[in-house]
Amino acid sequence: MKNKLVVVTGGAGFIGSHIAWELIKDNEVVIIDNLYTGKGENVPPGAKLIKADVRDYDAIAELISNADYVFHEAAQVSVVESIREPVLTEEVNVLGTLNILKALLEGHGKLIFASSAAVYGDNPNLPLKETERPRPLSPYGVTKASVEEYLRVYNGLYGLPLVALRYFNVFGPRQSANQYAGVISIFIKRALAGEPLVIYGDGKQTRDFIYVKDVVKANLLVAESKRANGRVFNVATGKQTSILELAMKIVEITGSTSSIIFDKPRPGDIRHSLADITEIRQLGFEPEWSIEEGLKKTAEWYQGRK
Ligand SMILES: NC(=O)c1ccc[n+]([C@@H]2O[C@H](COP(=O)([O-])OP(=O)(O)OC[C@H]3O[C@@H](n4cnc5c(N)ncnc54)[C@H](O)[C@@H]3O)[C@@H](O)[C@H]2O)c1
Repeated sequence: MKNKLVVVTGGAGFIGSHIAWELIKDNEVVIIDNLYTGKGENVPPGAKLIKADVRDYDAIAELISNADYVFHEAAQVSVVESIREPVLTEEVNVLGTLNILKALLEGHGKLIFASSAAVYGDNPNLPLKETERPRPLSPYGVTKASVEEYLRVYNGLYGLPLVALRYFNVFGPRQSANQYAGVISIFIKRALAGEPLVIYGDGKQTRDFIYVKDVVKANLLVAESKRANGRVFNVATGKQTSILELAMKIVEITGSTSSIIFDKPRPGDIRHSLADITEIRQLGFEPEWSIEEGLKKTAEWYQGRK
């Protein structure tokens, strides 16, 4: 992608900022972010940061309708928060996206939407194919499934070029390490501080972890592929890692003295999660980063911030 006008919503956050850093090399990048969890320091030099809320149509409409591509990462991203604040989550995640769709009708751009493996809920039919029926377990998952339906409808009604990417467990530099964050950022932070890594349950639960640079690659690939329009894709590696294995790798990579301790399982935790990535592979996607390489880069970044 070259010499395009690209909007990244949520571009001051974790994944959005990685997309922006990649695209700024050859394109004009405008970031829409209200800095709810994002930070100005994540925005690459040369990108324009517009502090605006996706719920505010007037504030974002023109920016969206001028864009060639819109990477829509802005969201209320916390599952726990979505249980406490379902209305806010619906407003940001669903109404915010409807504002973007409305503005796209006035323009010519293509939308790549950050959906989530949360749409699958605790489905035992592993590896999960995109054709499985969505059964989210949280308001957050409901909002992502609901936006996917809106994309299907807008693609059907207006022929808009829209793609949804169901990210599995993404990790990498700049991911927040607060209590609701991904397990990797929390474990790395604790390992670097020499604090125990707490596993809820027996540690045999598994996840499909993908390094953020591979997620960026998937975004660029579907953006440039006409065959992707109107479709939904899993974005993952198709590999399972148990939480215990993960904790041991992190202790090893960071050279930490942290112990690994076990606590009671958390209610609502999914036992296993694993993606079938055949669909996106058919567009030419192949994850490049092994979990070990990704963990090393992530640990280096947290180390640098200490
Ligand atoms: N990190 C993961 O593992 C993962 C997995 C599945 C899906 N996702 C999805 O990927 C996207 C990016 O997630 P992330 O992990 O980078 O989270 P993040 O919290 O780092 O990024 C979200 C960004 O959206 C911004 N934002 C929030 N509400 C906004 C609003 N009303 N208006 C404008 N900006 C707003 C935040 O300030 C932040 O910069 C989200 O849509 C999330 O649901 C992430």
